[in-house]
Amino acid sequence: MALLDRSDWYDLTRTTNWTQKYVTEDEFFPEALSGGRGIPNSVWETYDEPYKVSYPEYVETQRAKDAGTYSVKAALERAAFVDSADPGWVSTMQAHYGAIPLGEYVASIGEARMTRFSRAPGNRNMATFGMMDENRHTQLQLFFPHANIKRSPRWDWAHKALRTNEWAAVASRSLFDDIITSRDAISTAIMLTFAFETGFTNMQFLGLAADAAETGDHTFASLISSIQTDESRHSQQGGPALKILLENGRQEEAQQLIDVAIWRSWKLFSVLTGPIMDYYTPVEGRQQSFKEFMFEFIVAQFERQLLDLGLSKPWYWDILMRDLDRTHHSMHMGVWYWRPTVWWKPAAGVDPEQREWLEMKYPGWNKCWGKVWDVITDNLLNGRESLTLPETLPTICNMCNLPIAHVPGDGWDGRDWQLEHEGRIYHFGSEVDRWCFTINPEQYKGHQTVVDRFLAGLIQPATLEGALKYMGLGPEEMGIDAHDYSWIEKFRPTKSAAA
Ligand SMILES: [Fe+2]
Ligand SMILES: [Fe+2]
Repeated sequence: MALLDRSDWYDLTRTTNWTQKYVTEDEFFPEALSGGRGIPNSVWETYDEPYKVSYPEYVETQRAKDAGTYSVKAALERAAFVDSADPGWVSTMQAHYGAIPLGEYVASIGEARMTRFSRAPGNRNMATFGMMDENRHTQLQLFFPHANIKRSPRWDWAHKALRTNEWAAVASRSLFDDIITSRDAISTAIMLTFAFETGFTNMQFLGLAADAAETGDHTFASLISSIQTDESRHSQQGGPALKILLENGRQEEAQQLIDVAIWRSWKLFSVLTGPIMDYYTPVEGRQQSFKEFMFEFIVAQFERQLLDLGLSKPWYWDILMRDLDRTHHSMHMGVWYWRPTVWWKPAAGVDPEQREWLEMKYPGWNKCWGKVWDVITDNLLNGRESLTLPETLPTICNMCNLPIAHVPGDGWDGRDWQLEHEGRIYHFGSEVDRWCFTINPEQYKGHQTVVDRFLAGLIQPATLEGALKYMGLGPEEMGIDAHDYSWIEKFRPTKSAAA
């Protein structure tokens, strides 16, 4: 029997709006969840997703993808790559597995909300596939690290991290709640799929896959590239939603949703992906610097897409361009210094060869971050490890929930961007973080950072030990230097010669 071409029946099967008899339209599509914005259903029905797929096609492709990835894992498992991998790369995987899998599950919930509540049938259709995609990503990224739990409880943080009050987990939840689970379906399509998935998942899943392949971790490379093929499909839900908002006089709101989501995503990636790419991954495995990946996947991509849609670059674009040279170096230094507060083992990544690489990729690095690493290195060489460990907690930004980090050394630019709102003083790491708060204080005002909770007496005993316990970090899970300080030995000969 001859089969009809997909294009002959697709539009018809997507026509799934109907007139409800037992409930009102507003009960069926509550505005807070649907975000129809008064735009008629007849307009939402024009939503035209660029990537079309039928259910049988979807299942066949996904099955093949899963079969491929699981068989790579099975084939390479006996080689026990993890046992011989550079400890910096092991930390990369542990940080990734803690931060990502349950975030994927949250994304599945976000997709499910679009599946049920979007007024655009095309959006509902695509989100159904997106929901199954994210479920697959969760399962894969829980299953793969599971094989390593026998090696260290740090691998168990794939399940554990997002359920704890560890600070990076709190920062991730704060972002995910904001762009995935707390807004209407159309805002989710824009903030999650257009802003977060279009560019930032490329960073983590394509950029890191390139590094993984160079490092010899073919299991991880195959896993995360398989995931990214789904992302590149379901991230296309935001575009048609934006088009409808723009054609119906909602340009300013659309721009704000994008600007907030890009900035908040950037901040999280500056602490998660920046250090991984520029410090943890062995130099020979680095295909590009974090900044170069950011230019390829974020800057170039958004500049083109936003202008194509008739939107503008975010107002803070110059600030972002400047910060691409800065933020993640300071975040990395903070994570390494506060290493007991993370579930992975941060690699310092500053031996002489690595410092040369950093100076080449980020001219001026030595005069700023290098100066502080000089002091840290000197302390370690002289047996003063305690001076390289924290005694208290840093100031944390009330928007990104990350330390307020600045450029040290010659580039010092320290500042706490404050705001008083309804009698409470908020602290922000940049004017952009503060701006995100000012345009929607109701969304953010009640939240307490880990440090706010500490100061409010919610963490007992009110010591660093109490905070570590609050964060769920046991003695075998707290971060230590990935290479057990072996990198300082490369400085000892020069040091002795100078003495
Ligand atoms: Fe995903
Ligand atoms: Fe996704």
